[in-house]
Amino acid sequence: MPKADVWWVELGSVPLEPMLAWLNDEERERWSRYLKDDDKQRFLLGASLSRAIVARELGIAAADVPLERHCSRCEGPHGPVTSPLPGAPNLSVTHAGELVGVAASVDGPVGLDVEPSSRRSPLQDLGVVFGSDEIAGITRAGGGSEPFLRMWTRKEAVVKAVGVGFMVALPKVVLTGPADAPRLLGWPGDEPGADRYPAEMRMADLQAPRDHVGAVAVIAGRSAGELHVVQHNGADLLTAAIPA
Ligand SMILES: CC(C)(COP(=O)(O)OP(=O)(O)OC[C@H]1O[C@@H](n2cnc3c(N)ncnc32)[C@H](O)[C@@H]1OP(=O)(O)O)[C@@H](O)C(=O)NCCC(=O)NCCS
Repeated sequence: MPKADVWWVELGSVPLEPMLAWLNDEERERWSRYLKDDDKQRFLLGASLSRAIVARELGIAAADVPLERHCSRCEGPHGPVTSPLPGAPNLSVTHAGELVGVAASVDGPVGLDVEPSSRRSPLQDLGVVFGSDEIAGITRAGGGSEPFLRMWTRKEAVVKAVGVGFMVALPKVVLTGPADAPRLLGWPGDEPGADRYPAEMRMADLQAPRDHVGAVAVIAGRSAGELHVVQHNGADLLTAAIPA
C-alpha cells in the first residue's frame, strides 16, 4: 500500500532564527527578496520542514540536508523541492495563509495542496480549471465552496506530483466528481504521461488543521493499492530538529 506522510506547521509556532542557518545561498537570497514577513516565514518554514523530514528519515541533522529546486521549463532555481541524498523521500510543499505543509513519500513523486475552507468558489471562471463533467459534478454537489475546494485541491495536488504545476491545460486533467473517491481519469493527450498517469496516480482528501482542506497525490505505479496518509505535527518535528 503506498503511503504519504504530511506534516503541518503554523506560522509563529517555532523560533525562526536557528533555521535561517540551514538555508543554502539561493534560498537565502530568495528569502531576503520577500518583502512581507509572512512570505518570509512561509518560505523558511517550507524549506526547514522539508529538511527536518529528510533528516528524520535518514538519521542525520536537518542542517546537513541539501535541497534543490529546478524548473523543468526554464532551468531556473524554482519549482518542486527535492533532496539529492540517496534514500531521501519525494517532497511537496504547500502554503495557505497561516499554514505550511510538506508531504513526503518514498513510493513515488508526491503533490500536496491546502486551501482555507473559507475560500469562495469563483463560479464564473470554473471553466479555466475544470472540464464540463467536473463543473457538472461541482454543481450537483451544491456548487459552493466545499465541492469546489475538494476538486481544486485534488487537481493542484496532481499537477504538483507531476511537477508541471499550472503550466498544463487544467480542464484536460480530468478527475472524478467531488462526491466520488478521488481518481485521475485523464491527462492531456499532448503532454508526456497521458498513457501512465491516470493508471498510476493515487490520491486522498485531507482535513487539515485550522479549518483547511487539502489533497495529496502520489504517482505510485499501476499495481499500487489505495493511498494511505498519516498527518503529523510539523512544529514538534522542527522543534526537535533545532539544536539546543
Ligand atoms: C506549483 C503551483 C501550482 C503552486 O501554486 P501556489 O499557489 O504557489 O501554491 P502552494 O503554496 O500550494 O505551492 C507552493 C510550492 O509549490 C512548489 N512548486 C513550485 N513549482 C512547482 C511545480 N512545478 N511542481 C510541483 N511543485 C511546485 C514549491 O515548493 C512551492 O513552495 P516554495 O517555493 O516555498 O518551495 C504554481 O506555483 C505553479 O504552477 N508553478 C509553476 C509555474 C511555472 O512552471 N512557471 C514557469 C516558470 S519559468
